[in-house]
Amino acid sequence: METLKGLERNCNCGEIRKTDEGKEIQLAGWVSRRRDHGGLIFVDMRDRSGIVQIVFDEAAMGKDFSKAETLRNEFVIGVRGKVRARSEETVNPKMATGEIEVIVNELRILNKAKTPPFYIQDGVDVDENVRLRYRYLDLRRPEMQKNIILRHRVAKIMRDYLDEHGFLEIETPMLCRSTPEGARDFLVPSRLNPGQFYALPQSPQIFKQLLMVSGFEKYFQIVRCFRDEDLRADRQPEFTQLDIETSFLNQEDILTLMEGLIKRIFEPTLNVKIETPFRRMSWDEAMERFGSDKPDLRFGMELQDISEFVKGSDFKVFASVLENGGQVKVIKVDDYANIPRRELDNLVEYVKIYGAKGLAWIQYSEEGIKSPFKKFYSEETFEKIKQATGCKTGDLLLVVGDKPSVVAQALGELRLEMARRRNLIDENKLCFLWIVDFPMFEYVEEEKRYKAMHHPFTAPRDEDVEFLLTNPEKVKAKAYDIVLNGVEVGGGSLRIYQSDLQKKVFQAIGLTDEEARAKFGFLMDAFEYGTPPHGGIAFGLDRLVMLMAKRKSIRDVIPFPKTQSAIDPMSHAPNEVDEKQLRELYIKTTVKKSANS
Ligand code: AMO
Ligand code: AMP
Repeated sequence: METLKGLERNCNCGEIRKTDEGKEIQLAGWVSRRRDHGGLIFVDMRDRSGIVQIVFDEAAMGKDFSKAETLRNEFVIGVRGKVRARSEETVNPKMATGEIEVIVNELRILNKAKTPPFYIQDGVDVDENVRLRYRYLDLRRPEMQKNIILRHRVAKIMRDYLDEHGFLEIETPMLCRSTPEGARDFLVPSRLNPGQFYALPQSPQIFKQLLMVSGFEKYFQIVRCFRDEDLRADRQPEFTQLDIETSFLNQEDILTLMEGLIKRIFEPTLNVKIETPFRRMSWDEAMERFGSDKPDLRFGMELQDISEFVKGSDFKVFASVLENGGQVKVIKVDDYANIPRRELDNLVEYVKIYGAKGLAWIQYSEEGIKSPFKKFYSEETFEKIKQATGCKTGDLLLVVGDKPSVVAQALGELRLEMARRRNLIDENKLCFLWIVDFPMFEYVEEEKRYKAMHHPFTAPRDEDVEFLLTNPEKVKAKAYDIVLNGVEVGGGSLRIYQSDLQKKVFQAIGLTDEEARAKFGFLMDAFEYGTPPHGGIAFGLDRLVMLMAKRKSIRDVIPFPKTQSAIDPMSHAPNEVDEKQLRELYIKTTVKKSANS
């Protein structure tokens, strides 16, 4: 094997330009593609900076040429050569280096490579499991490198911005006490404390609040969080937050500071203009109009209420919904009155996933009105609905009647689905908004109790405090989420900083004083020693970068993610461990050992 000695790299492949013409340079990198024209070999050579075409010419090279003939994809090479302008016909405008090529006069093969399981290039159509199994090769693909580099840039800007605004990056423990509320914990057995467990942090929430008690005033951390949840495209068991906490700022101060951060992140990296302040919308309004607390505002198709038009009829479905305090709402799909019957049937199944019992429709087609409930209403009623919803002939209304939460979920999801199917989403738009005035609690049917919607340290609105124990449904929180294109990219709140109010909130979620003390005693103690008013937010770094990179899954912006079933197909984590390891931890599993372990 050869080395780079005497041929040390002095130039990056992707950065060579026409202005470098005539220069002698030394490159190091990988063979990305090789075309043998007999006597003339073209190689696309790749390093982190990009790709450049290098040329081996037998006539000019002599003995090193036979070495060039042995090159295969992904061999690691070092070359010395001269930059030459390409002739007009051979210029490749798609490549940053497309105006030049490098005529090689010396080649060293630094390492060979087996044939990779997939092509190391953008847009490969490979099963994601295979990509994850060979993640180190997947990450060699330029588009993946771009994502990871973008991630670095974003994190760097976050640090710079927050540092400039007086924030300190402070670490918090990874081995924590398991506290209830929130998602399921990942547990770590303690060898030194038999039978006891640490929990990996779901977020540094309590510690960052304690740092406010300590007087640090402005804290941030780019930090890994762990939640044992069911996974989705935008959820990983370990993910990264930009976690922030401040003292003495009000909600408006915090939102403004964060808008500045978003502007600073997006404008230079994506070369866009971000208008601030962002739109603010109450949770109630978002649910009413979009059926979602993370509405995608890149398109309209808002939910509209037609209850007043369909009430008091013989159509049992709507009659019973309305009698039971429900509502009948629609979304309008422009120019789709001629939707095929098959698709309607398919949409009925679609809304059922989200709890709706059914789906109805009104087709205002050229041939007249078509609707499963046509015979129950007059022509005039259909005309009124048409007017009220702004329909024109040719439009379609999709109708769901149920209790408000089901209508919101079913129509909210249907709105997104129809926008995708009808191609209504402008992928170049960036629609930020703040959702504010969240309900403080949500009722958990299975547990027959209220649960904090954000977390139990979130402050209720001052004017709602009196209802905490009498009418919890009515209490709104000083909480806010930031939404980008229908994805929740961050969320936070002002916190409770008085221990008596904190006790009341614990009580409202069904914790007795003793339980609250047992679980959060250290926090309650701390609050007795002069706690400043404080609040903060956490951004999902993975989600933010995913959206910036225009990806559909956060796995594409995480170097080594887990699959949907929370495994790593490359290192085969999680895995069974030795009996001895378990013994040391005083642990016995109740699972039978699998045959292949
Ligand atoms: P929250 O639970 O809303 O707030 O989390 C903040 C942000 O983190 C991202 N996120 C996730 N990203 C990937 N995979 C996951 N499993 C996942 N879960 C959450 C989301 C979310 O908006 N301590 C509070 C913040 C605060 O109050 O300051 C917290 O963790 O983008
Ligand atoms: P059913 O009586 O269940 O056969 O329903 C008659 C029609 O009412 C169905 O074909 C649907 O179009 C409509 N429908 C049923 N349930 C709902 C619902 N929850 N919301 C809107 N339309 C419904």
